[in-house]
Amino acid sequence: EGECVTSATARAYPNIALVKYWGKADEKLIVPVAGSLSMTLDDFPTTTTVTLTDGGDTFRLNEVDHDGTSADRVTVFLDLVRSLAVDAGLDTAHLSARVVSTNEGPTAAGMASSASGFAALAVAAASAYGLDLDTRELSRLARRGSGSASRSLIDRFAVWHAGDDESSYAEAVSAPDMAMVAVPVATGEKAVSSRQGMIATAETSPFYPAWITSTQETLTEMIAACERGDVTTIGELTENHAIRMHALIASCRPSIRYLNPTSIAVFDEIAAMRQEGVEAYATADAGPNVFALTRPELAHIVADRLVGFTKDNEAKILMPGQGAHLIDGAS
Ligand code: PMV
Repeated sequence: EGECVTSATARAYPNIALVKYWGKADEKLIVPVAGSLSMTLDDFPTTTTVTLTDGGDTFRLNEVDHDGTSADRVTVFLDLVRSLAVDAGLDTAHLSARVVSTNEGPTAAGMASSASGFAALAVAAASAYGLDLDTRELSRLARRGSGSASRSLIDRFAVWHAGDDESSYAEAVSAPDMAMVAVPVATGEKAVSSRQGMIATAETSPFYPAWITSTQETLTEMIAACERGDVTTIGELTENHAIRMHALIASCRPSIRYLNPTSIAVFDEIAAMRQEGVEAYATADAGPNVFALTRPELAHIVADRLVGFTKDNEAKILMPGQGAHLIDGAS
């Protein structure tokens, strides 16, 4: 009534896939062609406050008001939340939302900002609109914003199931403690969005069917390796699957490439370290930044070795982090 504002704040962290998601079975519902597996990080959070208003949706990211594509994606997502509110018979369903986000990682440069962004938005918006959703339902909801966001609902390690709208959600998988060393080599926005890249891959790569079947096999092997705590197999599968994804993407017509020469140099350096007995494995998403997966006790050695390749002379060590959650609005 009048002065009474409904507001909720949530925090979510990016996740880095060890088995990658690349390709949709359903473009609108964002159901993937194969499952994937990731580690949720413990830094680079997105913090999002959703406040219900009757003045139209607005989106502010890192102190800048947005309209255009990113604001449209927020509004489309809020429409979905409002349709759930209608189904639940909530009188908030007709309200619009003021969305204010702070992103502590570089946006749209392969640092999974869309994952932390939509996971935080799902949790904050569901709460502000008064929906009572469990983690599985929140994961399905976050998925509709950005596929990989489904995994940022989950603590530590998550497997995101393929399937259909009902069955495609992320849940926890047990895995040993591992560190991710972030090697940001560039912070500019990427040239081809993951959405466009996935469409191009499905339409033009002759290797796409083999990617789908081999990813399913890799996921089965990866889950088994995680459950038995086999860091060496986890690392080998992680690096190989990332290289397969980038090879698949390169096989598009016209070809797409997210890695730059520095990214390749980092992959080579990580392979050289392994030769010397320092166990680390490389991965990269739809951008040039590389992540080195390693054992926690080796993380400082790996970071020191890779810091020279980074853009800002910082190779941050990340550990398994918390799934998206509500926080006190003031912080
Ligand atoms: O969630 P999206 O649409 O940003 O796609 C993410 C795709 C990769 O980051 C390249 C792989 C993954 O599984 O996170």
